[in-house]
Amino acid sequence: MPDILIKNTKVFVNNYLQPAEVLIEDGKITEIARQIDVQRLNEVIDAKGGLTLPAAIDVHVHFREPGMTEKEDWYTGSCSAAAGGVTTVIEHPNTIPPTIDRKSFKEKLKLANRKSIIDFGIYGGVTGNIEKLPELWELGVTAFGEIFMAESTGALNISEETFDKALSVIANLGAMACIHAEDEKIRLECESFLKNDHSPQSHSRARPNMCEAVAVKKAIELAKKNGAQAHFCHISAFESVGLLRKERYLEQSSGYPVRFTSEVTPHHLFLSTRDWDRLGSFGKMNPPLRDRRNPKMLLNALNDGTINIVATDHAPHTEAEKDVGIKSAPPGVPGVETLLPLMLVAVKRNLLPLGRMIDVTSRGPAGIFGLTRYSKGVFAEGFDADVVVVDPSRTSVIKGDLLHSKAGWTPYEGMDGIFPEYTISRGEVVWDGEILASRGRGRFLPGKGFSRDEED
Ligand code: DOR
Repeated sequence: MPDILIKNTKVFVNNYLQPAEVLIEDGKITEIARQIDVQRLNEVIDAKGGLTLPAAIDVHVHFREPGMTEKEDWYTGSCSAAAGGVTTVIEHPNTIPPTIDRKSFKEKLKLANRKSIIDFGIYGGVTGNIEKLPELWELGVTAFGEIFMAESTGALNISEETFDKALSVIANLGAMACIHAEDEKIRLECESFLKNDHSPQSHSRARPNMCEAVAVKKAIELAKKNGAQAHFCHISAFESVGLLRKERYLEQSSGYPVRFTSEVTPHHLFLSTRDWDRLGSFGKMNPPLRDRRNPKMLLNALNDGTINIVATDHAPHTEAEKDVGIKSAPPGVPGVETLLPLMLVAVKRNLLPLGRMIDVTSRGPAGIFGLTRYSKGVFAEGFDADVVVVDPSRTSVIKGDLLHSKAGWTPYEGMDGIFPEYTISRGEVVWDGEILASRGRGRFLPGKGFSRDEED
């Protein structure tokens, strides 16, 4: 692997942006200094005054393989990630078959090992498979989830009783539960009430704020009862933020280690119910688009640390699948490639500081999901050279047909994004305007319960 010197760049170190050069050797960052003298001939990247930043870690993607490769597969999903400046993903279990036992885990791992161009973790699904959770943990799942408290893509939703049992097992393993919090009873009631309303907007009303907040409250109670560490996926409602803020206060004031963490998606930060007219059924996702008060409060919560990280819920479906009535369109929008571009524009518009943006896209996810021990998420000497080079003055218009997901469309069509000039994963340039990496170069990052390194 050639060593790389990034010249004429700025880095965000010690809380401020400063001119620097960055040396990468054997896949690691080995020096960050004002000027670096190297004897040997290196590959030199001239950043032309642009920034060298940690690449993003997206802990919430659905790469659809096995079973739904018409929507995405590990190669196209990982290319989409790399082109958007993401060098590590963690993939959710609602594939076909779902990742709920040894066989399905091994099948997914094999495919990902063969095809992914970036590093990855795999979640273990939770259905009625409670007795399989310990073996999944030993096989190396990063965490358990997403645990669906209400119906969504893949029909993996579970009853409160199963959820309770699962949390007890997860707590005993010392693992973490990742929770899709929506209340099934409220959803069913609202949906039946709205059954004759075929407007796209009806989807937001079918899963109102309370549908999420009631489930968050229930999950907090059950996680506390079982002593389980819990991470909330895609928080979208300001009432949920209130509940999490209260927990954070209690944790901080009682000195207990933080037990609850949470993520927010770019679509809940940057889109709202005002986008229904533009998006129609393409704007359907779970939890749904919220009215404009919510994105504002989510951004505040991300800035003040109540919400810990951003993750995309990259959930590609084909145009043909989405281009139907709101009731039959599958929920989900692609997003892994636009995560960093949208967040960089948010920084440019002063919606959050650059340092916080780095925390929520890189350091934070690595810390919560145990990836720091793999040298991920820290821009410092000795850590993996997972970096992007970006030119903050080069804002471009997001266009679905320029993206790399099989979905071929994006809910952010026409919005601004700052895309990376280069994406470097473990010291290898994987994107420079084109995908340069070979299939299968991505590495599996087993979770902390990993103890079974089995052959096929
Ligand atoms: O909108 C969604 N789509 N929400 C989910 O929780 C699942 C996802 C998918 O897999 O399509």
